[in-house]
Amino acid sequence: MTNTNIDQTAIWQALRQHQQALEPIELKSLFADDPNRGTRLSAEAAGIYFDYSKNHLTDTTLNLFETLADEIQLPSQINALFNGAHTNQSEDRPALHTALRHNFQQQATSPVDTIDTNQTHKITQSLTQTLEFAEALRAGTILGSTGKAITDVVNIGIGGSNLGPQLVVEALSDARSTSSHPALHFVANLDSDDLNATLEQCTPDTTLFIIASKSFTTLETLGNAELAKTWLQIAGINAEDSTLHFAAITHQADKALAWGIEPQRILSIEDWVGGRFSLWSAMGLPIAIALGAIAFKNLLAGAAAMDAHFQTAPLRNNLPILHGLIAIWQINFWHCKSRAVLPYIHKLQKLPDHLQQLIMESLGKSLTQSGDTLNIATGQVIWGSEETNGQHSFHQLLLQGTETIAVDFILTHKPHCEANQHRQLYANCLAQSQALMLGTNDNNLPAYKRLPGNRPSNTLILDELSPHCLGALLALYEHSVYVQSLVWGINAFDQWGVEQGKQIGSAIATALATTTELTNQYDASTRALIQRYPKHP
Ligand code: F6P
Repeated sequence: MTNTNIDQTAIWQALRQHQQALEPIELKSLFADDPNRGTRLSAEAAGIYFDYSKNHLTDTTLNLFETLADEIQLPSQINALFNGAHTNQSEDRPALHTALRHNFQQQATSPVDTIDTNQTHKITQSLTQTLEFAEALRAGTILGSTGKAITDVVNIGIGGSNLGPQLVVEALSDARSTSSHPALHFVANLDSDDLNATLEQCTPDTTLFIIASKSFTTLETLGNAELAKTWLQIAGINAEDSTLHFAAITHQADKALAWGIEPQRILSIEDWVGGRFSLWSAMGLPIAIALGAIAFKNLLAGAAAMDAHFQTAPLRNNLPILHGLIAIWQINFWHCKSRAVLPYIHKLQKLPDHLQQLIMESLGKSLTQSGDTLNIATGQVIWGSEETNGQHSFHQLLLQGTETIAVDFILTHKPHCEANQHRQLYANCLAQSQALMLGTNDNNLPAYKRLPGNRPSNTLILDELSPHCLGALLALYEHSVYVQSLVWGINAFDQWGVEQGKQIGSAIATALATTTELTNQYDASTRALIQRYPKHP
């Protein structure tokens, strides 16, 4: 692949010209000219139906997408991802989250998935250990310091060590077979109110804390872990006995041992598992505890099915490639700077949060992997909420605001809730999507009541709210992110900006704790704000 920035290529100019030709044509005209558009511009795989017809695109656009895919050598780049090439150049690592879900799916192993057997063995060993630990907790054979079974598990983690597992546990709570299994709690924030609100629901001698941290250095997680240890000690559980109330998921086993975690309670993840891609690994322990090994394997199977589809389906039927290239089209040619993720499914209320990290931490970059500055937009701002709540909050802006915002509507086909409510949810989703596209054509309406329309959206329909379909949906977004990163030439798998932010935070925390005169290392605003901090809180 050449090092030319994509916006300097012939295909980019061709897309630019094509957009200018399409600009004057309203979406509703595209539908009027093609009665089959609504089904023709859709694709289905792994239990997900993707209607992409309400976008400013034609067959010419799709032909240009094919050329763009050739320009970035997409097929070989997809093979590289699955084969463990070091796609994460700044950290000189592969990004093998796909391998995490193939080892339980021998039949789903993709035709090009040929990573080395040592790696495969470590993945299988880690996941087997994870599932065994989860099943033991569910069976009540893991006992606390007073010999009682564990009734509550508290996952202490942040970012990818929290968002994905919490999303899946909440989304699939119906899959919890019986209430006799441990209750799952998630604590992430540095603010101790987060932990305390959970501890109020727990009993010390029947609570297990999972310290979920790939680096085992994250300030929030280690701070909460120390507070949890103090909580146990106050309850009379001494340091030695408290080891029965902790486990760890990390790449840094030595740090976990030094902290006091028993070696047999440390579940390992590889350094090439990115935090936002880690729920498929041992980081998914809370999922396996809450839902059981079968549900966890079905989650992996759904993702593996989407992986195989991504590797083999032609572009016009390939959900991740279509979603990714349509995102490029919306961002770089139709100036959609943000994307609203709108699940009409209460149990997917955490999906926007998870996708915020997945997409913004992966694509919030302005340098290519060759070190060149990009002069075009890259990662979108991702936001959203469960619906129909959003219809009573921000849809006004979507429908009549000055900004065109990309929208992903998400539905279930099979009712995931009471049938009549599901019908109403489905109807509302379709109504919003249609209103965005068609607008209002009643010229008798006063201007302030009219909807401009001509606004794009995607609609994704899960066959059902199941582990398999959810796994497929999350893998779809992971691969869409990868496709976008390849077009822009950026690294989807590092996050140096966040690392810098952590270091600045640590230095200021030290400054707040001391009364020494501030050097001029800080700007006048930060210095003044530091000086306003109550020195003796
Ligand atoms: O936000 C930065 C980040 O490193 C994420 O990528 C990661 O998911 C999160 O912090 C937590 O990191 P760790 O699992 O190492 O505690």
